[in-house]
This record gives sequence, C-alpha cells and structure tokens, in this order.
Amino acid sequence: MSKITAAITAVGGYVPEYVLSNKELETMVDTNDEWITARTGIKERRILKDKDKGTSFLAIKAAKNLLKKNNTDPKEIDMVIMATATPDMPVAVTGAYVASQIGADNAFSYDLMAACSSFLFGMSIAAKYIESGSYKKVLLVGADKMSSIIDYKDRTTCIIFGDGAGAALFEPNFEGLGVQDEYLRTDGNGRDSLKIDAGGSLLPSSIETVNNNQHVVFQDGKTVFKFAVTRMADVSEKILKRNNLTGDDIQWLVPHQANNRIIEATSKRMNLPDEKVMKNIHKYGNTTSATLPLCLFEYENKLKKGDKLVFAAFGGGFTWGAMYLTWSYDS
Ligand code: UT7
Repeated sequence: MSKITAAITAVGGYVPEYVLSNKELETMVDTNDEWITARTGIKERRILKDKDKGTSFLAIKAAKNLLKKNNTDPKEIDMVIMATATPDMPVAVTGAYVASQIGADNAFSYDLMAACSSFLFGMSIAAKYIESGSYKKVLLVGADKMSSIIDYKDRTTCIIFGDGAGAALFEPNFEGLGVQDEYLRTDGNGRDSLKIDAGGSLLPSSIETVNNNQHVVFQDGKTVFKFAVTRMADVSEKILKRNNLTGDDIQWLVPHQANNRIIEATSKRMNLPDEKVMKNIHKYGNTTSATLPLCLFEYENKLKKGDKLVFAAFGGGFTWGAMYLTWSYDS
C-alpha cells in the first residue's frame, strides 16, 4: 500500500462585517493612514462588534462555510482542532463547543495556542493524525476575536489586529500530495515581548490588574519585528534548501499577515515575485490564528493540483516555522 500523506481537501473562511478603517482609527488614537500604510501595509481590519459573541462565533461561521462548499457531512469528522489565542473562556474548550455547533458529533476536539503560529502548528498536528492512519477527516479551524484583547487607546497595537476565522479539512492522500516537510521552532526567552500580563495563573485577574490595564495585548514592536523578519525568512529559506527547491519551483508563499515588510523580507529571501505571495493584510490586518487559512480561502480559486506552497509564520512566545505542502485539488 502506498504511503498516506495528509492533504488539504477543502477550505472555508469568515470575517465579520464591520470595517475599522485607518481613517476611523485616526479619530481614536494619535495616528494617520500614511504611517499605518507605510509601516504595516494595513488599510482596514474587520471587527466583531457584538458584545455577546466570542471567537466561537467566527470559527463556527468559517467551519460551516467549508462544510457547505465541500458538501461534507459533519458527522464524518473525526476531530476538530481549534487554533486560537482568544478562546471563548478559560478552561472550557472552545473547540468542543464549535464541534457541537457544527454537528460534528462524532469528533473529539481541543484548543491549540501558539499565538500567531497556532494554525501552522495545528497543520503539523492535523497532518500527523492523518498520516498515522488513525483518522480520516481532521478539521483545523483558526479563529481569533483579537478586538476582545486590544486596547483601542494604544496606537502601537490597535492599528495592527483584526478579527476573523478560517478552516481547512485534512484527509488522507495516496498520490503523495499534501504536507511534505516542516520546520517549527520556539524560543521562550521572547515571552515578555508579546503578551497579556494578567488573567493567567502567573497573575490572576483582580481589581488591581483591571485598574492597571493588564488584560490587553502588550507588544514591544521593534523587538518582535527584528525576530520575525529574520526568523520567518530563515525557516522559509531552510525548507526550500532542505527539499532541493528554489523560488522558481514554488507557486505560492502563504505568509502570516503581521506586517507587509516582514512578508516582503521573506519573499525576497526566497526569490519570489509579488505575484506568488498570498496577501490580504491590507483588508484584514493581523487576525492571528486566522491569517493562513483566510489566505487559502481567498486564493483557493487560483490554486491548482500539484502547486507547491510554502507556509511561514511568526508569533508570540516566540513561536515560528515553515511548512512545505503540495496542493491536492483544482477548485
Ligand atoms: O503577529 C505577531 C508578530 N507581530 C509582529 O510581527 C509585529 C512586529 N512589529 C511590527 O510590525 C512593527 O514594529 C510595528 C508596526 C508594530 C511598529 O512599526 P515600527 O516601524 O517598528 O515603528 P516603531 O515602533 O519603531 O515606532 C516608530 C515611531 C515612534 O516614534 P518616535 O519614537 O520615532 O518618535 C513611535 O512612537 O512611530 C511612532 N508610532 C506611531 N506613529 C503613528 C508608533 N505607533 C504609531 C502609530 N501611528 N500607530
């Protein structure tokens, strides 16, 4: 019997309707459209305005979009991996709720948190479950309601992040298509550069932590930028070399959408022209766990069977990595 590889066989996506433009941000903090565009490439981002809806709302929409498009019976799904940095609540598994709401009654599920690398690391896990032969359909959802943890008075973070969700279905492939190689890394020395101080076991929520504004994202942008720009390019180059590939062999780079300058540094190192780089940062900003699947969702109709894709991400922790995957279907 030929070896089982893990292929992506369907994708879905969802972004909330409300558009928060650079112009509107100008009325909220001391910033301007020119600065944001030049430094990040972001023009607008989507915000889930409903106060009573959490990340699961976005995730369910993206998952249902995938199921409907692909005509998949949710009862056939074996597991749901929920990649997110903003679960609905601590302890209760958001993935379990998402699985139940989409009718994946025969699946088990859990949440996976690796900041902006959550989806990339989730791809690795989904692939391993499929390659082992134990499971036939693994649904990986990446979703974040970043607006729930952003301080809209902090101009260094509120201009960057947005809300969104994407989903990918992993299934066995017997033609050798799907995940080919990965190079995933972490460095815990970076944890103070991108974090939320309070609300975890180290500093539980209290009146003081609320008064001190310690429940929102803090980012030392310069340090994170420095690491992201080198690490993402390094791993992308490494994965090419390791597989005897050059930029000419690659059809698509699927990069985490944190900053257009980081994306350009990575594609330059890989010798890839702009036309081969998936980008939606201008519309959605940084949606954390949703950037990679939202790229696939938007570029799906351009993808062809056999196309060679390199995924790359960098996030808090620090976490980062690259994956080489061949596409399994013509859409
Ligand atoms: O996805 C997870 C990983 N995250 C990332 O990869 C993000 C990495 N970091 C970045 O993308 C960039 O560092 C930022 C976009 C966050 C900031 O861009 P930067 O080019 O690194 O700017 P900076 O922090 O060096 O700030 C330059 C100047 C400062 O003023 P002075 O000190 O030169 O007078 C800032 O105070 O720009 C000022 N500034 C702003 N000005 C207008 C900072 N934020 C803003 C703003 N609008 N929103």
